[in-house]
Amino acid sequence: KITHVILTGGVGSRLWPLSRKSRPKQYLPIFGGKSLFEMTSERNRPFATNVIVVGGKDNFHLSREILESCSVNYIDIVEAVPRNTAAAIAFAAFASNPDDILIVTPSDHIIEDEDKYLDAINKAVDKAANGYIVTFGVRPTKPETGYGYIEYAGDEVISFREKPNQVTAQEFIDRGNFLWNSGMFCFKAGVLLEELKLYQPEVYEKSLDAWQQSDNGKLEEAASMLIPSISIDYAVMERSKKIKVVPALFRWSDLGSFDSVYDYLKKTGHPVDELGNMVIGTTNYTAFLGLENTIFVHTPNANLILHKEHSQEVKNIYGQLEKAG
Ligand code: GDD
Ligand code: MG
Repeated sequence: KITHVILTGGVGSRLWPLSRKSRPKQYLPIFGGKSLFEMTSERNRPFATNVIVVGGKDNFHLSREILESCSVNYIDIVEAVPRNTAAAIAFAAFASNPDDILIVTPSDHIIEDEDKYLDAINKAVDKAANGYIVTFGVRPTKPETGYGYIEYAGDEVISFREKPNQVTAQEFIDRGNFLWNSGMFCFKAGVLLEELKLYQPEVYEKSLDAWQQSDNGKLEEAASMLIPSISIDYAVMERSKKIKVVPALFRWSDLGSFDSVYDYLKKTGHPVDELGNMVIGTTNYTAFLGLENTIFVHTPNANLILHKEHSQEVKNIYGQLEKAG
């Protein structure tokens, strides 16, 4: 049995004000009329009609709205508090049989060339059936520090390094045998749990406790707070000896911040003026004077004006607003 696990716990704080707590970016119909969540779910339907969504209590109803209208077998796991991806993935594995093959994906990526995607998934499923944990490697184009790097030879993974600093990332790119980790994984539920138990016994035990105390997949806050918050990349991918990589030959963008949204929109024909200024969220005529590489983001109750190079700092604004209530 193959199950598509959709991780949708993030709030997308670097895309404020498009992305809000009440409607994170993956549910916004800003990219071609459909939401990224919807596109993610449709893309995986050819191989998985079983779907597990792991998300937060603020947004699980948004996932449900979309999946209820599709013919999928659908389970939702609702986290009281986000405890990062190691725990989120463990919950999905606890909800499955050990031999079930899980295809774990974020809900907020753009993927083009669906046939190449299907191809990569088929290869991954074969390897997962043989007991491996499969990653999907994207050819790097810049020393991005927000991604994991996979040192590879063929389908073998020599090492996995999550979020290196700029200097190390550049070194990896210069060495040439590194790929970006796309953030999607494929494995047997039981294999992932064994590896988690081996390398992060506390995450394993506390996630299991929380799972056993949950009410039908609705986790409780007190038990969840005891789970160490660590991503699957640090917890398992950097350590496991069972990791393989499948090349991701499809076009992939992680629309995590405004610079990547800008690049994506520009590539797909969204207007940009001659100095590189862009308007998002309104068709109002907008003029830029004395500004370049500036992005104006409009929403009904909040605007953001930023220089493209400050895209990573948007999460600070989100953080300040959160604190201010
Ligand atoms: N349910 C749930 N609970 N989902 C979560 C949680 C959580 O506590 N934390 C994060 N997620 C979801 C996010 O919404 C996203 O869909 C996915 O898990 C990955 O989390 P990110 O926070 O976006 O991770 P990242 O971008 O820093 O890094 C990962 O993705 C990169 C590629 O985009 C890593 O896998 C990197 O190695 C990879 O390069
Ligand atoms: Mg991400």
